[in-house]
Amino acid sequence: MIQEDIFKKIIAHCKEYGFIFPSSEIYDGLGAVYDYGQNGAELKNNIRRYWWDSMVRLNENIVGIDSAIFMHPRIWEASGHVSAFNDPLIDNRDSKKRYRADQLIEEHLEKIEDKIQKEVEKARQKFGEAFDEQKFRTTHPRVLENQKKYDDTKKRYITALEKENLKDLHQIILDTGIVCPVSGSKNWTDVRKFNLMFSTQLGSVSDDANTIYLRPETAQGIFVNFLNVQKTGRMKIPFGIAQAGKAFRNEIVARQFILRMREFEQMGMQFFIKPGTETEWYNYWKEKRMRWHKALGMGDHKYRYHDHDKLAHYANAACDIEFEFPIGFKEVEGIHSRTNFDLGNHEKFSGKKIQYFDQDTNESYTPYVIETSIGLDRMFFTIISNSYTEEKVDWEGSAKEERVVLKIPPALAPVQLAVLPLTRKDGLPAKAREIMDRMKFDFNCQYEEKDSIGKRYRRQDAIGTPFCITIDHQTLEDDTVTIRYRDTLKQDRAAVEKLPEIMGDKVSLQKLLKSL
Ligand code: GAP
Repeated sequence: MIQEDIFKKIIAHCKEYGFIFPSSEIYDGLGAVYDYGQNGAELKNNIRRYWWDSMVRLNENIVGIDSAIFMHPRIWEASGHVSAFNDPLIDNRDSKKRYRADQLIEEHLEKIEDKIQKEVEKARQKFGEAFDEQKFRTTHPRVLENQKKYDDTKKRYITALEKENLKDLHQIILDTGIVCPVSGSKNWTDVRKFNLMFSTQLGSVSDDANTIYLRPETAQGIFVNFLNVQKTGRMKIPFGIAQAGKAFRNEIVARQFILRMREFEQMGMQFFIKPGTETEWYNYWKEKRMRWHKALGMGDHKYRYHDHDKLAHYANAACDIEFEFPIGFKEVEGIHSRTNFDLGNHEKFSGKKIQYFDQDTNESYTPYVIETSIGLDRMFFTIISNSYTEEKVDWEGSAKEERVVLKIPPALAPVQLAVLPLTRKDGLPAKAREIMDRMKFDFNCQYEEKDSIGKRYRRQDAIGTPFCITIDHQTLEDDTVTIRYRDTLKQDRAAVEKLPEIMGDKVSLQKLLKSL
């Protein structure tokens, strides 16, 4: 199946099974804003907990905070967001569609890369074992021609970005013949700067002095609380402050479901360190964060690092952890070496001394910072898109049938146990409720009695429930139930009292955390 089709199917599945709804749907929706439904909210909570516990519980020197979304407007001047948090936008006059100029060029570069890769794969198939890729890449005329196009364009592009030269970005789009994906035309406007921050007014008087911004990143709430936390928590460097919360960006192009939203959630941690130790800590957090992702068991080959070509205004080194979605590799998390840019600027703009006194060396300094920042919504989509499986299975001995199952890592599943009385008669529902009442303190359970047992199993598969138990007449006699496993479809008979032991290990967040 074409990957784009899978992407669409997953979006439809998210809606049909209560994971994600378009926001304000009865009013025809609101661009790039989404609501999480009953199953989505549970999954999101579980991801957030996995992240929070791995940061705050497992590291004695990391604490968590929850700062306000509204902040003093000077903060965004100090952080550089007022002057530098811009995207270069361009319009196509024929389609009236708006694009990010940098994304148009990057997509163009990706297409050239794909062309080269296709030539290489074709040759590999033709020559088999004897194929020498290095030699092919450095001698084949079409590959060489495309590689040159790629290198030249990339060089111009990076220079234009670094110098924030909008005219050059425009010229690259014209010179490379990039067309509008909708109209197919090259009728482009100039490239303009567009600030991504949403603004609003504080209080009842509407003038510029009262303009405040919805935070575009959670990080600044941490920086402005550096002294509060360091002093009240008696924190010694190196230490970290974590927080999870909403961020807002007026994205120009937001056509990728929850991968690019205007309101989204970030889980960020700022790690304060001694100047000069940044390379060591940057590498430490790069490796540690990758381990957190891979511990979910979704396939190590689905992740890669991507070093930034152009560094953000605050960073001296930066990379992304990318995940392979159905539409290709995309960033899920950023790791940035932010130097002392933020604390230094807040000191300058606020006039308050923001320094750390090192009692061991008797010196004061502005700490450097390593940041890890992961989008909760993007993380949500790594799990959903990786879990979505269509497969043919035997339903209790019948002919093969198709099922859609979400193979969500059990520790994060929105529902961990479905409690299903076989029929609605003979006291089975009452017995099922009794079991549910025992289990619900340890596991997120769902009770269902409507429809045939097969249909109920399929509904549970579709939301990723790892365990279903069926209560039947034998249960009334010996307190045993049938356990049905989501991934293997295996069914076992087990005593109710053994359920916590059987399930506990598999759905345990604790076990996942211990594996880190
Ligand atoms: N404080 C650093 C910072 O904000 P970022 O790379 O712009 O860095 C961090 O954002 C993470 O937030 C990204 O890796 C991504 O997962 C997520 N993110 C950023 N913009 C987003 C958007 N418009 N929609 C959804 N997630 C987004």
